[in-house]
Amino acid sequence: MKYKVIRNPKYDFIGQHYATNYPNLHKYPATMIPQIGIELFKELKISNCKLLDPYCGSGSSFTIGMNCGINEMWGFDINPLAVLISKAKFTKIDLNKMKSYKQKLRNEVYEFIKKEENFDKIQIPDFYNIHFWFSKNVLQNLSIIKFFINKIANKDIKRIFLIPFSETIRECSYTRNNEFKLYKMKSEDILNFNPDVFGIYFNKLNKTIFLYEKYYFPKLDSAKINIDYKKFETKENYFDVVLTSPPYGDSKTTVAYGQFSLFSNEWLGIENARKIDSLMMGGKISNSLYNKGLISNYINEINKKSYKRSLEVSSYYYDLEDSIFNVAKSVKKNGKIIYVVGNRRVKNIQLPTDQFIAEKFEQNGFKHLFTYERLLGNKSMPLENSPTNKKGQRCGTMTKEYIVVCEK
Ligand SMILES: C[S@@+](CC[C@H](N)C(=O)[O-])C[C@H]1O[C@@H](n2cnc3c(N)ncnc32)[C@H](O)[C@@H]1O
Repeated sequence: MKYKVIRNPKYDFIGQHYATNYPNLHKYPATMIPQIGIELFKELKISNCKLLDPYCGSGSSFTIGMNCGINEMWGFDINPLAVLISKAKFTKIDLNKMKSYKQKLRNEVYEFIKKEENFDKIQIPDFYNIHFWFSKNVLQNLSIIKFFINKIANKDIKRIFLIPFSETIRECSYTRNNEFKLYKMKSEDILNFNPDVFGIYFNKLNKTIFLYEKYYFPKLDSAKINIDYKKFETKENYFDVVLTSPPYGDSKTTVAYGQFSLFSNEWLGIENARKIDSLMMGGKISNSLYNKGLISNYINEINKKSYKRSLEVSSYYYDLEDSIFNVAKSVKKNGKIIYVVGNRRVKNIQLPTDQFIAEKFEQNGFKHLFTYERLLGNKSMPLENSPTNKKGQRCGTMTKEYIVVCEK
């Protein structure tokens, strides 16, 4: 191994997960537990500076930043749901105003549903396959809630009210809720499925406001946090630290962020909701093999087993290389990058993405400081897959995670 990896049990945080100290306001796949960054910032004496997360997801880097006195943070993601969650958590809102809006929303919905003739006034959305995933009754009740949320003029309050709405959509659909990908319930379960949409939404709204008030609001005083729904573009010599957990592979074959978020994004009116996975890192299959540096041998091995898979994997590394080029330019001299990543297995070949990241940053003016290996006991992602797609043949994909640290 070219870049030294140090096994560091201090970073395992066995038995702990995201919610242990920092409950999320909305489920999100492959979140990074904030404990990692908080410990590392202490170790590297990082505080009071400008932080970037080019793949910010639901925003664990900002939770870390808030805890460590970082005063300016920037985050980017191309999944609108991720941006919605992050912005909701890290925007300061007047609590009294928010609670009075909640009361108003309750009253409006309550008054509205008293008269059945009102139901005709509500427009039900019509996106692809909607009746396959939602019952008529659920569609109608979700549409009523959405109608009244849309009337909220204050955009910060509207955003936070959409968080429980998004979770309610998923919970009231015919999906099996404990999976990230969309699988429909069995027909016998559908017959017994009659969720109380209003009850679920307003309970979730109470919980969201409670968590926001207790865990996020008190820390939102000083830091300036900018979160954008787009791919990160270079901002030269601007950042002191980059803390991120990039996707571990293309969405189609690792974590399907777009599919997980599909219903929420569709209800939010996002035009490209169905295309998000293909817009993500490694989402467009490349037409040539990635044949540079230390990863090329591994890709060649995959190529011996499947040309198609080796092209898919190549496309991820081409995209990661481009992104590292932009990120590297955006870091100031002596600034640090911290990438938390897993080394996925494709066709039974483990890809050393941690080594790739260190190599690319070294080629872009950085020095590799160290890589810590931690056990991955607490991430919500598929830990196993079938390497041959044959039933009964499974192997562990990622039971370890790597924290790569480099300095410019
Ligand atoms: C491992 S997750 C980040 C999780 C985050 N640390 C958290 O705690 O929620 C990776 C994120 O990268 C995003 N992503 C994938 N390709 C992207 C791209 N090209 N530009 C920006 N974000 C992208 C995904 O939408 C996903 O939210």
